[in-house]
Amino acid sequence: MRTQVGIIGAGPAGLMLAHLLAREKIESVVLEVRSREYVQERVRAGVLEQGTVDLMRAAGVGARLAHEGLLHRGIELRFARGRHRIDLSELTDGAAITIYGQNEVIKDLTDARVATGQPIFFECATVSVHGFDAEQPTIRFAHGGTEHELRCDYIAGCDGFHGVCRSSIPASALTLYERVYPFAWLGILAAVAPSSEELIYSHHERGFALHSMRSPKLTRLYLQCAPDEKLEAWPDVRIWEELDRRFEIDGGWSLKRGPITHKGITEMRSFVAEPMQYGRLFLAGDAAHIVPPTGAKGLNLAIADVRVLARALAEYYRSGERAMLEEYSRICLRRVWKVQRFSWWMTAMLHRFDEHNAFDARRQMAELDYLTSSRAAAQSLAENYVGLPIQW
Ligand code: APR
Ligand code: PHB
Repeated sequence: MRTQVGIIGAGPAGLMLAHLLAREKIESVVLEVRSREYVQERVRAGVLEQGTVDLMRAAGVGARLAHEGLLHRGIELRFARGRHRIDLSELTDGAAITIYGQNEVIKDLTDARVATGQPIFFECATVSVHGFDAEQPTIRFAHGGTEHELRCDYIAGCDGFHGVCRSSIPASALTLYERVYPFAWLGILAAVAPSSEELIYSHHERGFALHSMRSPKLTRLYLQCAPDEKLEAWPDVRIWEELDRRFEIDGGWSLKRGPITHKGITEMRSFVAEPMQYGRLFLAGDAAHIVPPTGAKGLNLAIADVRVLARALAEYYRSGERAMLEEYSRICLRRVWKVQRFSWWMTAMLHRFDEHNAFDARRQMAELDYLTSSRAAAQSLAENYVGLPIQW
């Protein structure tokens, strides 16, 4: 088998890359270890930046998003029993975020891929990458009991944090930057209408809580918990009672309860591998970096990476010019680090840290007070939250 770009992983990064390349008439093969159903049903993030929405529309995969996505022009911050709205649109010349589940993005991109007739193999086994430090990279994999070898010009490692691509690069060629946080998020999906039109980020002495949603009938809620928390310790009633306490404000507010259809624990990590390229292997999305979910950036960062990669590959196939491919890592990392900073900052501002002393607690409160009383501070949050531009 032979193709121009071999893409490993059918998450948002791999599928969007495949789609953008197909629009440029560049051939690719997508390889995924999981089944199509598993990838589509996995409960993941749900906030799309303005740039992600604009790209999906411009790339012809925005029809269902335009119809079903929920446009949000602001978010709410809660602390010290008070509520404060950050008007994202007013602070950013009209930009907004759209609530649309990552699994819906995956469905739209998978349908678009299948419609092109170009190959996508689910349930691949023993995927391995070879020869990417020279002119002829290959990917070996098994599918349906048969071993295959795929020869390609370039390999895109879009296989997530635990994939094979990053770990196939010689360790001496990568610098890894990492911070693991001393807490996790317990997340639920509940079959009940959201209790607020907008997202609510709540800082509370018992720990952080987040109210989000997936649709007018589906609420997504998160609670800060211990990193080694066991789901069995959280029967439904305990989750609802804890959420009630963490969202409580003066003047009253109530959280609607409904059947919990999903429960999970999300670990919190900041991670960057530099550079995002080795020879003819390019890393994109979670394969190269992880952000804690507080800023809702993971999916959007993955999409921004492949936007750069698709443009660089298009330039190469059009003109034979490799200059932009060589700039791929630098262009991406410049934005990645700013998004890392923002995700770390949101996390540090909103969570309860066991090691904090009274000074830290006061400083954290002053930060929230500043943010909600200074236009300059609120604007900084807003421009990051709706998404920073790519600086080409
Ligand atoms: N071979 C083929 N596919 C693989 C392999 C492998 N060896 N290892 C992992 N995969 C697949 C995974 O099953 C997954 O479907 O690669 C895909 C990677 O997708 P994501 O983990 O969704 O990563 P990415 O596309 O970079 O998107 C990042 O997803 O994890 C969320 O919060 C994260 O929103 C962010 C986004
Ligand atoms: C979500 O809806 O899953 C979500 C929203 C905002 C975040 C993180 C996750 O910051």
